Amino acid sequence: MNELRVEPVTPAVGAQVSGVDLGKPLAPEIRAALESALLEHGVLFFRDQDISVDEQVAFARQLGEISIPPFAPKYGDDPEVVVLDQVSPKGEGADEWHSDNTFMAEPPMGSILKAVQLPRQGGDTCFAHMGAAYDALSEPLRRLVEGLSAVHDITKPLAKAIAAGHSEANLAEVQAKWPPVVHPVVRTHPVTGRKVLFVNGNSTTRLVGLSDRENEALLRLLIDHVRDPTFQCRFRWDTHSVAFWDNRLVQHYAVPDYTERRVMHRVTLVGDRPR
Ligand code: OGA
Ligand code: MN
Repeated sequence: MNELRVEPVTPAVGAQVSGVDLGKPLAPEIRAALESALLEHGVLFFRDQDISVDEQVAFARQLGEISIPPFAPKYGDDPEVVVLDQVSPKGEGADEWHSDNTFMAEPPMGSILKAVQLPRQGGDTCFAHMGAAYDALSEPLRRLVEGLSAVHDITKPLAKAIAAGHSEANLAEVQAKWPPVVHPVVRTHPVTGRKVLFVNGNSTTRLVGLSDRENEALLRLLIDHVRDPTFQCRFRWDTHSVAFWDNRLVQHYAVPDYTERRVMHRVTLVGDRPR
């Protein structure tokens, strides 16, 4: 293979990486280069990676411990692989800005998503850098939100997914297993120390200690801050494209604009408690 190349997609977020075969064991220096590119850009995009499910899992294992998500639209035969397979994506949950599974006390560190089958048009995924989003808040607002924490709850996204026919999970059972958790509104990235705005429209339900009226205004403002295109990039998938994101650093949004079948395989990596 050629030399590893990392080309930023936008100044804020995303890089296209070429010159590596994800189906082969990574040389230590390549692994280190990918890890540092991920920390810098938040999400890495690879094309033409015609790898098997086992190879995708093996790639993931070189970067972390695999997390079995508590609920997912569908599992394949291998619980380490989440299969996203749909023709009608509205309400699935990914069609809202989010980072994955923040209703967990220790949300995933990252995810590796591979395109298996795509609609002819549509089905792009957008990413937003929540470190850049934090930096763009005014200094007085940064000071205010740094001391806050927020409740994250699985109820809304799961109820929505069930109502839209995307999940067969039992809501009450999942709620009992994953009660609401509290995370800081501004987390410090455990590797780089970068401050990251850590609320999302899927799972964050309440700023702790604030009144209802204050929540309505401030939580809404913080959740919607991700919508500024300055922090974003948009990835157009090809079959065999792979995206690897740092779930502590970016949010993502699966554009629900397609009507033909789209199949994706995701492997998720274990994370730590946000601080
Ligand atoms: C996910 C997700 C986005 C997509 O796998 O967590 O949100 O575009 N996927 O399928
Ligand atoms: Mn997701």
